[in-house]
Amino acid sequence: MSVQERKRLIAEHVYELRKKGRIQQTRQFIQHGSTTVYDHSVRVAYYSLVLAELLHLQEHQQELIRGALLHDYFLYDWHEKDKSHNLHGFRHPYTALENADKDYHLSKRERNIIVRHMFPLIPIPPVFMEGWIVCMVDKGCSIYETVKARNYGGKSSKTQNARPSKCFK
Ligand SMILES: [Fe+2]
Ligand SMILES: [Fe+2]
Repeated sequence: MSVQERKRLIAEHVYELRKKGRIQQTRQFIQHGSTTVYDHSVRVAYYSLVLAELLHLQEHQQELIRGALLHDYFLYDWHEKDKSHNLHGFRHPYTALENADKDYHLSKRERNIIVRHMFPLIPIPPVFMEGWIVCMVDKGCSIYETVKARNYGGKSSKTQNARPSKCFK
């Protein structure tokens, strides 16, 4: 699949999710450095697709994309000091699943991708291969976003222009 095909596929899913739920709200919240939860989630979806292709695991592509796009659907700014944000690392997959369940009809696989993406911090592993993919890609994207923010002092970098979510603005 070409880069454009992957972007188009993700854009179609974002469009569908926008119709029903609150995915637009994720644009307001910062995830790492200067990266919003929305950009982070799109990046995770994009590279999850790449990894699934490399592993020849394309049977559940739709669930992989939806699970990746919703894995951080916790809908608050975790940097704000608030009692409800305590233990964010441990609790946010459950909050994301609760929110996603309210807004969308999710499959078993999509639910598992969301709730198990923080393995091994939460020591219950994903059940499905797609869950492992999102779990690993999420770690890589998080490190990239954090390091990039450090190198650019939290400001936008040139590399951001090439981010996969750029085409969804
Ligand atoms: Fe997360
Ligand atoms: Fe994440």
